[in-house]
Amino acid sequence: MASDRFEKVVSLAKRRGFVYPSSEIYGGLSGFWDFGPLGTELKNNIKSAWWETVVWSREDVVGLDSAIIYNPKVWEASGHTENFADPLVECKGCHQRFREDTLEKKQCPNCGGKEFTKPKMFNLMFKTYVGPVEDEEGLAYLRPETAQGIFINFQNIVNTNRLKMPFGIAQIGKAFRNEITTGNFIFRSREFEQAELEWFCHPKEADKWFKFWQKERISWYEALGMKRKSLRFREHEVTERAHYAVTAFDIEYNFPWGWGELEGIANRSDFDLKVHNLSYKDEETGEEFVPYVVEPSVGIERSAFAFLLDSYDEEGEGSKKRVVLKLHPRLAPYKVAVFPLVANKPNLVKKARGIYDSLKGEFPVAWDDRGNIGKRYFAQDEIGTPWCVTVDYDTLEDGTVTVRDRDTTKQDRIVIDDLLPYFSSKI
Ligand code: GAP
Repeated sequence: MASDRFEKVVSLAKRRGFVYPSSEIYGGLSGFWDFGPLGTELKNNIKSAWWETVVWSREDVVGLDSAIIYNPKVWEASGHTENFADPLVECKGCHQRFREDTLEKKQCPNCGGKEFTKPKMFNLMFKTYVGPVEDEEGLAYLRPETAQGIFINFQNIVNTNRLKMPFGIAQIGKAFRNEITTGNFIFRSREFEQAELEWFCHPKEADKWFKFWQKERISWYEALGMKRKSLRFREHEVTERAHYAVTAFDIEYNFPWGWGELEGIANRSDFDLKVHNLSYKDEETGEEFVPYVVEPSVGIERSAFAFLLDSYDEEGEGSKKRVVLKLHPRLAPYKVAVFPLVANKPNLVKKARGIYDSLKGEFPVAWDDRGNIGKRYFAQDEIGTPWCVTVDYDTLEDGTVTVRDRDTTKQDRIVIDDLLPYFSSKI
């Protein structure tokens, strides 16, 4: 059933334009994905929901949008040039390469062979060259995490903003990792977006803030409709912690193939600010110290996939069977769909078009006048549109429309002028 869900969600995502393989007309490129019209809306909604909660709703968090390519000295100082690597092995039978720690029962997933070369550490950072000469001097890296952009701007932000410890700096942006093995659809890709908060605090308070952010982050998923039973915390073993972390927990999602990391929450200690020679002076107490950093970090595509999986449902039998994405209205790509009952009655179409135009300026609205109403409802259910508005003959008489709720399929009559406040109050 679980793998069934995986296949169904992947197929829906491709069929309805959430996700396409990147460069598909040239055979694709492993680990890269393009997001279609609906996927773009979903990702944007996740990013804005994150930003609203983490930045706008707090007076102690500010945002940043740093470059993707930094001076390569950043990665030397941060330890990524040396440590950001996975163990690579090659199957002696078919010569395919794998990340050693992902091999089940030490067996080649391609040919079943059991003999591998000795593991070599493979650095995951993509290399590029800055400027016209491709030599060591121009060597640079695409960032594998957005966090370093925050650390290297720490002093700039402290100097140009009135911030008192503790405070946070948030960033959403692209990250790149030359993963040895990609897979499970968009779960592990080579180009993805991260939403990261670096929360700077006094070292004595790091444990308290770590717990605080654990709670905050799990509540965020719940507030957006993710089932609590689909989520759990898992503490990292000492051996699996990133080189900078002193404590690390994952928020895991119960993916169809088992529990997997959705978001990482790490206590990065004073590691990063120390390696970049940065510190903080408390103007009130005069104390100078190197702050500790608590970091919640989530991948946008990975969370989009988890939201799709979690909201996928099938209901009814036979011709009544429907597939429905019960996405939170905040995340749904379209908030409302508007239909004229039939397409060949100009007065119905005109009225419906007027409603469509008036709502469209407020949020994304779909228009559909093809086929029968039942099919149109089902097509909207499948992409998670929370409400469908139908203009029928009664509308011309009394100025009301039918509003059909995606989750209950219940239909209400609502006065046209009340539509905007009705939907706005629920999004
Ligand atoms: N700055 C900390 C950091 O980068 P991470 O655990 O390596 O920590 C954070 O990554 C999050 O980024 C993960 O929880 C996951 O959601 C996402 N992520 C990491 N690698 C990814 C990949 N190859 N493809 C998609 N998302 C990824």
